[in-house]
Amino acid sequence: MSTLIALAAAMLGAQPIVIAHRGASGDRPEHTLAAYELAIDQGADFIEPDLVPTKDGILVARHENEISGTTDVATRPEFAARKRTRTIDGAPMTGWFTEDFTLAELKRLRAKERIPQLRATALDGQFEVPTLEEILALVKRKEAATGRRIGLYPETKHPSYFAAIGLPLEEPLVATLAAAGYHRQTDPVFIQSFEIDNLRRLDGMTELRLVQLIGDPASGPADRSGIGYAAMVTPQGLKAIAAYADGIGPEKSAVIPRDADGKLAAPTGLVADAHAAGLLVHPYTFRKENYFLPNDFKVGADPRAAGDLAGEVCAFLKAGVDGVFSDNPGVAVKARDGCQLGN
Ligand code: G3P
Ligand code: CA
Repeated sequence: MSTLIALAAAMLGAQPIVIAHRGASGDRPEHTLAAYELAIDQGADFIEPDLVPTKDGILVARHENEISGTTDVATRPEFAARKRTRTIDGAPMTGWFTEDFTLAELKRLRAKERIPQLRATALDGQFEVPTLEEILALVKRKEAATGRRIGLYPETKHPSYFAAIGLPLEEPLVATLAAAGYHRQTDPVFIQSFEIDNLRRLDGMTELRLVQLIGDPASGPADRSGIGYAAMVTPQGLKAIAAYADGIGPEKSAVIPRDADGKLAAPTGLVADAHAAGLLVHPYTFRKENYFLPNDFKVGADPRAAGDLAGEVCAFLKAGVDGVFSDNPGVAVKARDGCQLGN
């Protein structure tokens, strides 16, 4: 184990975690039971469902409530009239929205690959949109089969938007988790949000750990016009976050930026500042394709080809992060274990 990783692990009492971002979404269509199951089989410590509600208030796993990018809804004549233009977090968006579909209707759709220009599409059309309850049942089944504890890392998507249209996420999320036995601070759950006020509200609703997501420093939480993400990662901002959350989930360049040549530069002080405030640091998103990697970790020139994701993950672990979100959790687990051995 490197000195830095050992120091972080000793301080926080745990080795860095690997969070399967939208499941093993580098290998299977994101946010499907198949993607989560593969992530668990690849050794992920946590699986990450992004959550949005259906018209009848059921939480389902999608990255956006607009679902034409990850399902076949646009090809379904029976749903053509459901196309809408809605304003989500201040921006107009046209498409098909989960809040206009009952769960029974949504279940007729099938998932597809989000980025076919980079990833295989052979599994398009095979998998349903899963509910949170189905994901929890999968976790229980895999825990029983493997003897491993598998964590949940749900994200509330657009929480103030959904509260405003009468479909709040927090109550069904906390109730569904509690019904499955997750309610203590020590349970393997982190609830995440890019917004502030719903995390503050969740802090009063549950002991489960909370993570403040940090987006583009030029932007800010959709529920707060007066504060930006850049201010939230100052020592003062981190102290404010620590009043209601247990960790931060920053975009990875806030931990290690890229230099003018597109290579990893020196780490910022964010990890040290966050740890000083008592916060864990789980950056996103680590992906194996050259397209996403820093130039010093690309292998060859094909943007679809796999580069040295393990090397990138190791660089972040050496910078002291407490976990990583990855579309390729199998690679990240191997990197974590190899990096700890000093490779
Ligand atoms: O939740 C961590 C990361 O997933 C945040 O980004 O847009 O992929 O949900 P996004
Ligand atoms: Ca997410």
